[in-house]
Amino acid sequence: MNQKQQVGEKAASFIENNMTVGLGTGSTASYMVEALAKRVKEENLTIECVATSIATFNLAKSLGLNIKELSEVDEIDLTIDGADEVSPEFQGIKGGGAAHLFEKIVAVRSKKNIWIVDDSKLVDQLGAFPLPVEVVQFGSDYLYDYFAEKDYHPAFRLDETGEKLLTDSGNYVIDLALEKIENPQALAEELKAMVGVVEHGLFIDIVDQVIVGSSSGEVEIQSK
Ligand code: 5RP
Repeated sequence: MNQKQQVGEKAASFIENNMTVGLGTGSTASYMVEALAKRVKEENLTIECVATSIATFNLAKSLGLNIKELSEVDEIDLTIDGADEVSPEFQGIKGGGAAHLFEKIVAVRSKKNIWIVDDSKLVDQLGAFPLPVEVVQFGSDYLYDYFAEKDYHPAFRLDETGEKLLTDSGNYVIDLALEKIENPQALAEELKAMVGVVEHGLFIDIVDQVIVGSSSGEVEIQSK
């Protein structure tokens, strides 16, 4: 079993009957969704889910999970999601799957957030993974130029046909190849204040626990 599957299954074991669960996006989160669907069937659990992307919504639905729109649930007990980088301070970069806008909306409405990662995602300092910034299409070239002037090394994310990738909300993603982010909080505030930026992939003070898989097969649970 690979590390992503291991941590996905471990995280699914934390879900309790009658919970409302936020389902993350990406390959690791997909393992968790599959493991949850299996548990729901085998243990006859009553679980309500909300998804963080159209892809996860479709996966959960296809597996028979009780999937709701965000507006249909009162509160989310637990959200389990992947991440692209996690620092020792439990700050992270997300959005490798371009789903960070919905992922953050669900995360901030959740009583508890768990990330599931393999140990390659643990870093001393954030920034080696390009930071995704979701921007509205209108005026996005100006944002790109601004990022270039600031030496943020921007690149529009492209889809498999070579066109600018569209998020689930119909926006573009500009990835910033920053190498090192000295002050994630300050950068998060700078990006958030820019007109045309919808959301960035810095997740600050959001996650409560990180489940880490390693090649030895051990799974470690790190708590804030
Ligand atoms: C999607 C995300 C994913 O959670 C992140 O990219 C990790 O993905 P994977 O589990 O496939 O490595 O943030 O927007």
